[in-house]
Amino acid sequence: TAASSTTGPKAGTDAIYKGLAGVVVDTTAISKVVPETNTLTYRGYPVPELAEKCSMEQVAYLLWHGELPNDLQLEQFSQRERAARRLDRSAQSVLARTPETCHPMDVVRTMISYLGTEDPDEDLSTTELLLAKSQRMFAVLPTIVAADLRRRRGLEPIAPHHGLGYAENFLYMCFGEVPDEVIVRAFAKSMVLYAEHSFNASTFAARVVTSTGSDIYSAVTAAIGALKGPLHGGANEAVMHDMIEIDRPERARGWLEEKLTAKEKVMGFGHRVYKRGDSRVPTMYQALREVSEHLGETKWLKIYAELEDEMASRTGIRPNLDFPTGPAYYLMGFDIPMFTPLFVMSRVTGWTAHIIEQTESNALIRPLSAYSGPQQRSVPA
Ligand code: ACO
Repeated sequence: TAASSTTGPKAGTDAIYKGLAGVVVDTTAISKVVPETNTLTYRGYPVPELAEKCSMEQVAYLLWHGELPNDLQLEQFSQRERAARRLDRSAQSVLARTPETCHPMDVVRTMISYLGTEDPDEDLSTTELLLAKSQRMFAVLPTIVAADLRRRRGLEPIAPHHGLGYAENFLYMCFGEVPDEVIVRAFAKSMVLYAEHSFNASTFAARVVTSTGSDIYSAVTAAIGALKGPLHGGANEAVMHDMIEIDRPERARGWLEEKLTAKEKVMGFGHRVYKRGDSRVPTMYQALREVSEHLGETKWLKIYAELEDEMASRTGIRPNLDFPTGPAYYLMGFDIPMFTPLFVMSRVTGWTAHIIEQTESNALIRPLSAYSGPQQRSVPA
């Protein structure tokens, strides 16, 4: 089978693939990335089309079940999602006890780990059970993120609104009202775009944990830890810090020159897989444009254009999804440290789809290493 076949030199003997770059470790039926044609599909559907035409609920269903839901399936799925949004009292008190000085990603990571303590392991290998746990995490994460956002602003949490869909309900829980349609649509699109991206670092972390036979909460907790880093999900926050530092479009090119001269990475640019541009950027850029024009605040859009242009001419490196998402979330009214938790809310669907896939066709993930330390020696007497 493809899962047991190997291509190229045998690891540990002939070559070292630092960062596993270019290494194919398994098959997946969840998403396909074709960097050469800038294509990304979830279960065969082009992601830009899904972002235009589908809600996050439909996309979550697609990632987990392999097909888009029909009307009845969507209705039942949404009912289950709405019913699972509430955070119970003990979880609320755990959230309240996490220090406000910590990063919101630490809160999300802690809360998922805590939910695991409330949910007995039972039979780990049942797809049905894993799906139920996945849906629970998907439903409750927005409640956690919104409550954390509000308490950091000194505000009481807002309970989920059963009458609202996933995106509207989340924005309502954060801001106390459902914003204009343009904002809701842009936010919903970002959720669809962030949902899944094959064997990225956080998904791979989740698959490694799953491969040992561990539980789904442990796997998602590990994935959150991996996503936090600025080379992965943390980049959407870094992008916005940079744009604020630049502040004026006419300063963007000079700022970039300094960064590149100092050999520093420019956040929101480059991608391990896409070398000619991230397939998700055009859709999110359009959403950023719509939000900017709707709010009459085009400064970030101008800084975006200056940086994109200058970076392309100097290095040929293109923006990744985090580049338009950072300023879009800022304009929507989110505090910068909340950006990566928003990514978690969406990517939990992709992670759990991979956890289920890994469970259904498991092989322990355990690579080799080439030793480079001291020769064997005796402990001094
Ligand atoms: N700014 C400046 N130079 C860059 C950048 C960047 N953002 N990205 C790549 N390069 C340069 C590197 O310095 C390197 O140059 P060199 O060959 O002269 O040393 C070359 O391009 C290759 O870069 P690597 O880091 O080796 O490429 P890799 O595939 O390992 O990196 C990564 C991909 C980690 C995403 C990188 O592009 C990066 O650090 N980008 C900034 C962080 C970021 O935006 N991350 C978000 C990823 S997408 C997501 O999570 C949705």
